[in-house]
Amino acid sequence: MPFAATPPEGLVTLSQNARTVLDKRYLVKDKTGKSVEKPEDMFWRVATVVAEADRRYGASDGAVQALAEEFYFLMTQRRFEPNSPTLMNAGRPLGQLSACFVLPVEDALSNGQNGIYDSLRSMALIHQSGGGTGFSFSRLRSKGSMVRSTTGVASGPISFMELYDASTDAVKQGGTRRGANMGILRVDHPDVLDFVACKEDLTKITNFNISVGITTKFMDALKADGSYDLYDPANGAVVAQLRARDVWDRMILGAWRTGEPGVFFIDEANKYNPVPHLGAYEATNPCGEQPLLAYDVCNLGSVNLGYYVSNGVVDWDAMRRDIALSTHFLDNIIDVNKYPLPEIDALSKRIRRIGLGVMGFADMLVRLGIPYDSAEGVEMGRRVMEFLDVEGKKESERLAKDRGAFPEWARSIWGPDETCARDANGQRIRPMQLLRNCNVTTVAPTGTISIIAGCSSGLEPLFAVAFMRNQAGVMMPDVNEDFVSIAKHEGWYSDELMERIAKTGSVRHAEVPAKWQAVFNTANNISPEYHIRMQAAFQQHCDSAISKTTNFSHTATVDDVRAIYEMAYDMKCKGVTVYRDGSRDGQVLSTGATA
Ligand code: CDP
Repeated sequence: MPFAATPPEGLVTLSQNARTVLDKRYLVKDKTGKSVEKPEDMFWRVATVVAEADRRYGASDGAVQALAEEFYFLMTQRRFEPNSPTLMNAGRPLGQLSACFVLPVEDALSNGQNGIYDSLRSMALIHQSGGGTGFSFSRLRSKGSMVRSTTGVASGPISFMELYDASTDAVKQGGTRRGANMGILRVDHPDVLDFVACKEDLTKITNFNISVGITTKFMDALKADGSYDLYDPANGAVVAQLRARDVWDRMILGAWRTGEPGVFFIDEANKYNPVPHLGAYEATNPCGEQPLLAYDVCNLGSVNLGYYVSNGVVDWDAMRRDIALSTHFLDNIIDVNKYPLPEIDALSKRIRRIGLGVMGFADMLVRLGIPYDSAEGVEMGRRVMEFLDVEGKKESERLAKDRGAFPEWARSIWGPDETCARDANGQRIRPMQLLRNCNVTTVAPTGTISIIAGCSSGLEPLFAVAFMRNQAGVMMPDVNEDFVSIAKHEGWYSDELMERIAKTGSVRHAEVPAKWQAVFNTANNISPEYHIRMQAAFQQHCDSAISKTTNFSHTATVDDVRAIYEMAYDMKCKGVTVYRDGSRDGQVLSTGATA
């Protein structure tokens, strides 16, 4: 039975800002560029495609229709949104629904599968389909080493990264936005110092975020102020040594100057690789929250936490139901997705990785009257992420009982004792649990979908209470509605106050009561330590990693940045990204204080 052609009747709560963004980016257009669908049609298109997967597990027409309606209201009432490619592509010719991919790059120009130019081609196909790509360039021989076939010299990983960057310029993601990439080089690659410096010039390699893959050996050398070995990628021989502190200092200086490179604690991440028998984590997706194997993929989706708070109380039952529904949604995506490469299709069905995360966490805290930078705020972060993780896995377990565990389950970290993956000491890494998905939780940046949902992004604090947002080239004013309604209710609202807040980027003004100054404290005014403490609290209950920017004021010193990098490692974060206010041009978000 076909679905109804028009969306169901019922409460839809999309804002005008959301409608504008959808119209500009995601709605189906005619040849003249005019949208031929409304946001409601788009969400119905997505809901029906994703619900359809249930039919293969025996659901009746009626059940599939009912599920599509549930998915439709889940999204249009802004309780959950899937990652952008799902919104753009579901039910359309591309049909590619995932945001994150990682491709291997072998040390050959072409070997017919994963040489430099083979993976370049795969990258273009993934970008065209709307996905973002991550790469490790660590297998490429270093600059200046010999190339046997030509007796020439190799140009090294960075020059090939520049090639990937240039190619990215030419292909628009899903026909709408330019591709995004992550480039990773291990800290023990001989070209690491060039890599650390390769984005010093802000006009270069702009389609890549870069991170250094930091090993435990390196961190041990750093703590002991010793040296560590660099290896020739071609044969594993030790070719040189560097003093760990020198390398670390250069990375920190780069991060202080421009925010790059970030770091990816690759050994720490690999401890929790759910399927080590299939290989180690290769790299992360462009924004860093999703470590992936070679040819791995993840579709993301985020629950809007602020939605579940009313009158200062969290409705945990409603959230539990929506977490289950969202997990079901993400698992269905794997069955209806059209993957750009056969290798990716095959792996995604063997491990069924999904990434359920959050957005609107700062809104949740505001509505509970809890400051982000407080012990209570951090504890709320830990608690809500634990809830998401436990409830998401309960649904994954239910799906596994109904539809089967992911095919690699028995040998994964979740499997039964005799066969499952163990840590280096032979201990279980996770308690046994039957699961449909090898990973369930990831916290994404939610850059666009938080605008669609009209909420704060990811687990980030409020960026500002009043600011101008550059959205796809259009400057849009944004004021925090919770703040405005509290100010009006308590009688201290004025337009002039809002202007002053937009201009100064701070709510520290005499008429704002101290309690609200604390609750509405914004990203730039929250200490870096609290940013990392929050990241670490979420990481405790997150299968994958966390997208988080630790903000520094413009006057922060290099030592301040160093302390945060070391704190992040000690607190078992899987990566760190910092941003010092004003250190880069063309910020997406800008407050009056820095614009
Ligand atoms: O909000 P939206 O679903 O658009 O994306 P996000 O949560 O900000 O980013 C999630 C992931 O989407 C990133 O880590 C990238 O893997 C991918 N992405 C991309 O490929 N290109 C972009 N321009 C933005 C995000």
